[in-house]
This record gives sequence, C-alpha cells and structure tokens, in this order.
Amino acid sequence: MKNFEQFIGSFSFDWRLAKADIEGSVAHVKMLVKTKILTASDGAKIIKGLSSILKDIEKGRQLPKEEDIHYAIEKELIKRIGPVGGKMHTARSRNDQVATDLRIYLRTEILSTIKMISALQSVLADKAGKSVDVIMPGYTHLQPAQPVLGAHYLLAYAWMLQRDKERLEDCLKRVTVLPLGSAALAGTSFKIDRNYTAKLLNFDSITQNSLDAVSDRDFACEYVFDLSLISAHLSKLAEEIIIWSSAEFGFIKIGDIFTSGSSIMPQKRNPDCAEIIRGKSGRVFGDLTALLTIIKALPLAYNRDLQEDKPPVFDAADTVKLCLEVMTDMMNSFSFNGEKTLKSTQKGFIQATEIADYLARKNIPFRTAHATVKNIVNYCIKKEKTLNELSIEEYKTFSNEIEKDIFKFINIENIINAKNSYGGTSKKSVLKQIADIKKCIK
Ligand code: ARG
Repeated sequence: MKNFEQFIGSFSFDWRLAKADIEGSVAHVKMLVKTKILTASDGAKIIKGLSSILKDIEKGRQLPKEEDIHYAIEKELIKRIGPVGGKMHTARSRNDQVATDLRIYLRTEILSTIKMISALQSVLADKAGKSVDVIMPGYTHLQPAQPVLGAHYLLAYAWMLQRDKERLEDCLKRVTVLPLGSAALAGTSFKIDRNYTAKLLNFDSITQNSLDAVSDRDFACEYVFDLSLISAHLSKLAEEIIIWSSAEFGFIKIGDIFTSGSSIMPQKRNPDCAEIIRGKSGRVFGDLTALLTIIKALPLAYNRDLQEDKPPVFDAADTVKLCLEVMTDMMNSFSFNGEKTLKSTQKGFIQATEIADYLARKNIPFRTAHATVKNIVNYCIKKEKTLNELSIEEYKTFSNEIEKDIFKFINIENIINAKNSYGGTSKKSVLKQIADIKKCIK
C-alpha cells in the first residue's frame, strides 16, 4: 500500500492542535518535575525546547510532516535538545494526550464563540432600541396573526442567542476536565499528581476513570450540538431576512454588500449572505451527525476511529464563527421600513382577536365571541373592507354589545401597548427587555 502513512495519519488536520499540545506538554513536564519523576534540569531543557518550537509555530513555521502533531512536536524536540526530549512522554500516551489537546483547543474556541455571540446580541439590542416604534404584523403559520413591535421581533433572536451562550458556558464545565495521566487506558504506575497538572492548565477537575477518559468525546459532541443549535438560530434569522427583503414584503433593507446581482436579470439584488448562512446550517448538522456516528458502537477504550473526530469539530467551529461574523455585520446594516410594515398591519384582519377579547370582557363566552368575529371578518372579505372601515352600525348587526369604543380597541398602537404582560410586545415591556438583554451582554 503506497499511501499508508498518509492514510493512517492526521497531521494534515491536527496541526491546529500544535499550541494546545505544547501547552499540555509543558504542564505535564512541570508535574513530572514536581513529582521527581524528571530532574529539574531535564524538565528545564524540555520546556525550553518546547518554548522555542512554540515561537516558531507562532511565526508561522511549519513542522516537518509526521503521522500526527504529537509525533511531529516530539521529534522536533528531540532534534533540538537531543534524546532527553524523549523523556517528555513518560507517564502518558498519545491517547490521553490527544483528548487533552482537544479539550484545551475547544476551551479557547468556546470562549471566542461566546464573545462573538455577545457581539451579535449587542447589534440586535441596538437595532431593537431603534425599532421600538416600528409596528409590524407578527405571524403564526406565516399568516398575519397580531401586531408586534419590530424591536420585539429582533429581541426574540437576542434571547435565543442568550440560551446558546449559556449552553456553551455549561459545556465548558465538561470540556475542562483533565484526562491527562490516564495514559493508554489503564492509568500509570508512576506516582504522578494529576490535580497539579489540572491546576497548571486551569482545568476544573480531573477524570475519574482512565478507560472512559481516553475514549470520551461526549464533550466534543455536546459542543458541536451547541454549535448546531446556534446554526439553526442563525438560519431562522437568515430566513426572516430573505422573506422580509423580498419585493412582496419589503419590510427591511440590508447593506448592498450582503447581496449580489444576477448574471441575467438586471433588476435583482439577491440576499446571498443570508442564504449562505441558512445553507451552512446543513453543513454543521452534518458535522454533528458525523461525530455521533464515529463514536457509536466503539468498544472501550481508545480506537483509531476517534482520530476522525477532528475534521467535523474543526469544520463546525470555523463555520459557525464565520456565520456569526457575517450575521453581525449584516445586522449592523439592517433597517426596518416602518411605513411598509405598518401598512401591512392593515391586511389580514390582525385586530380580530382584540374584538373577540372585547366581547369576552363583556361576559360573552370566548367561543361565542370567536364565532361572531369570524362572521365579521367574512363580512369584511365580502365587502372588501378592513375592520377599521366598518361603521358602528355594521358592527352592531353582529353584536349589540359592540359600542363605539371598539375603534379604540382595534387601533394598532393601542393593541400593542395593551400587550403589557411580562415578556409581551408593549413598548414598556420591550424597553425592559432591551435593558435586561444588555445586562447579559458582557
Ligand atoms: N492522531 C491520533 C488521534 O488523533 C492520536 C492518538 C493515537 N493513538 C494511538 N493509539 N494510535 O486520535
């Protein structure tokens, strides 16, 4: 077999773990010195060698190709400081090493993703602040349902993203558990101090079972699931942008640079960035499926299948960060066309529920009120009138309980401001939401 080395190797994708690998090795060596498994002078030589490799990597220098990043760094170390470099691998195996590296790497990724989510939330909160007087139809089943504030709509996404952030913060607790010292699968007979290594790496705790420790990739699955949900949320927001920016809706505008023209139809401005974000979610879900399929049916403990965990994890991380960045920029360029959204509230009889509530407050059973309003709406359709355009006499033919004050109740602004329940769409409630979400954005 010609390409065996390449086939079994992971260097082409795990080079990304280089910094994490060195960080883990430095902590491991310090622990070996503290426990007197290595002499202080050997430890110092190794750490100096590792630091010089790290410096070169940071400068963008590539290491010579090896089976994987762990071998590449160890070989380079031995090349630089001599056989003493080989002592670094005492009391560990690549199995606990790679699991540690991935955890160190993901910690950094999670923290930067959380920051990026906050940046998007901040833009949404800012745009919400500018849209507290924008009145638009809210939908269920994509049919006009009840009027809401544009700000309320944007904040819905800010709260979704808040849960995404909390999920990542929670995931971090299981990522920062140290497997190092589990060695190949059974632990080690060297008298190591795993808690000390954990402390050096700023990990919360150490793993409890060496078999589990070297085979566990639950934290990676969890992370990619969290990213999948972020992708789903971004995809939903992208979908709103696509619908709202269509000629039929015309509710919003986004910056021209987020759209592109058609090669044949000169009039077109297509919302490509939003569409690509929507499409990328499929890719991230694919990464999650890949990861779950890789771990399924693996007997304990380490199996080489686990090497295949990295491409989907890295791909999901890169994709979601890119989408967050583009969405944040795109939302920065976002604005509502308040006239258009207000005009749309005149369609679809979105005040109908208010009339039913009006009658219910007059002691008419809600079911009866609902049927009455259905008749009113059918009448409007026949007469091609809106609910505002009916006269009080026309209303009275449906129910004697309806008085002139009905027009106050079906005024769109009044409807919105009456929705003052906690979390509702009244301006007062929305202003509170803006203040509350801002507290969640660090
Ligand atoms: N490159 C390997 C991986 O990513 C490192 C661990 C190799 N362990 C082994 N027993 N062959 O999983």
